[in-house]
Amino acid sequence: MSENTLILGLQWGDEGKGKIVDALSENVHAVCRFQGGHNAGHTIKVNGKKTVLHLTPSGILHKNVNCLIGNGVVLALDALNEEIVELENEGIDFNERFFVSNNCALILPSHIKIDQVRDKTESIGTTGRGIGPAYEDKVGRRAIRFGDIGDQNILEEKVKSLIEYHNKILVDIHKENKFEVQDIFDYIEKYKHLYEKYSCDSYEIIERWSSDGLSMLFEGAQGTLLDIDHGTYPYVTSSNTTAGGVSTGLGIGPKNIHKIVGITKAYTTRVGEGPFLTELFDKDGEMLAKRGHEFGATTGRPRRCGWLDLVALKKTIFLNSVTDLCLTKLDVLDEFDEIKVCVEYSDNQPIYKTFKGWGEPTSQAKNITELPKLAQDYINFIEENVKTSISILSVGPSRDETIFI
Ligand code: GDP
Ligand code: IMO
Ligand code: MG
Repeated sequence: MSENTLILGLQWGDEGKGKIVDALSENVHAVCRFQGGHNAGHTIKVNGKKTVLHLTPSGILHKNVNCLIGNGVVLALDALNEEIVELENEGIDFNERFFVSNNCALILPSHIKIDQVRDKTESIGTTGRGIGPAYEDKVGRRAIRFGDIGDQNILEEKVKSLIEYHNKILVDIHKENKFEVQDIFDYIEKYKHLYEKYSCDSYEIIERWSSDGLSMLFEGAQGTLLDIDHGTYPYVTSSNTTAGGVSTGLGIGPKNIHKIVGITKAYTTRVGEGPFLTELFDKDGEMLAKRGHEFGATTGRPRRCGWLDLVALKKTIFLNSVTDLCLTKLDVLDEFDEIKVCVEYSDNQPIYKTFKGWGEPTSQAKNITELPKLAQDYINFIEENVKTSISILSVGPSRDETIFI
């Protein structure tokens, strides 16, 4: 029987999902994305070379691994094309192992414009990639889907009516310029080859892989606290980033998700606006940002930094039925004299437990017993507090700086 594993973020994104998915891809048949879009930035480092993926599943660097973009993803054709071209130039082959669901809702240039214009007043601090407006149109049953590219008549009708709708929003509400329907057609036409090469009925593919007993990794984007239903609303993204998103975003029932690996950094970061109880504004915050190179992989914005919040972590473990924890960026804490962890809230303020820092490098460790005793104490405390075992530890950005327990 196949063994399928879900890997998702338990914080506000950027937990190191790309690195961990890549590290676990070696022995699976396929890696699948199920939600979000090119708002994601997933970094992989192999032999000193860094790759940032926005849409392509993080298994793509392994040449025998299939990659699928599921129906729950919102798809920007230009971003996908750019990423494929860049990767092909690096010698990565997409032929016959890369598939995109016909049911993906498209992100059009007008969605991006609406997102950027709105965020000037709504101040969510979105990535400006058109994600929210594209999901709105999907739920409003007016989205253009990837498969529509195959039928010129349907496409013409749908594009015309959608762009008229977008123009009302842009011109009447925001006093911006309108989009020409023809320009949007031309845009879609330019990327028609993506449809011809990669479009698929993802149900057929997933059903076949499942019946053949092949194992899959499901790669989450963003993080649980950015979930549209369970996150820090309205400062969230517009998809379900939690475990339930796999079933809707890929078409695979919950019984076929056998292992749920939740990733948390050893501290916390957030990009964009919204509440962040353990955020630091002092030299410790600066040191986390500096040692962790905390700049967004998609927008380059500085990430806000703070201590690990175990109250939030317990909640996100529950929301996803996490079976295994993965703790990343432990090495970033190597030089701190003291490390704090939030263990409860009082009047909406974090109450911290303080740990003595280990003050030595951890990146070389290949085994948990090779870590400094004080680092092991920190890890054990987290496991016991949230009652979930850590089965993967990440002590550096590279594929091989990973400890499997
Ligand atoms: P994702 O969105 O969850 O895939 O994470 P990002 O790629 O946006 O951000 C994670 C950043 O941390 C990237 O720059 C990674 O290369 C880096 N990274 C991942 N794991 C580790 C780790 O254990 N230690 C250090 N120092 N960096 C890490
Ligand atoms: P990965 O997959 C971190 C944040 C944005 C903003 C909010 C809404 O790399 O972890 P959106 O453009 O989605 O409408 O923005 O969500 N956000 C992310 N933060 N990592 C991400 O992805 C994110 N994708 C969106 O900063 O606060
Ligand atoms: Mg990221």
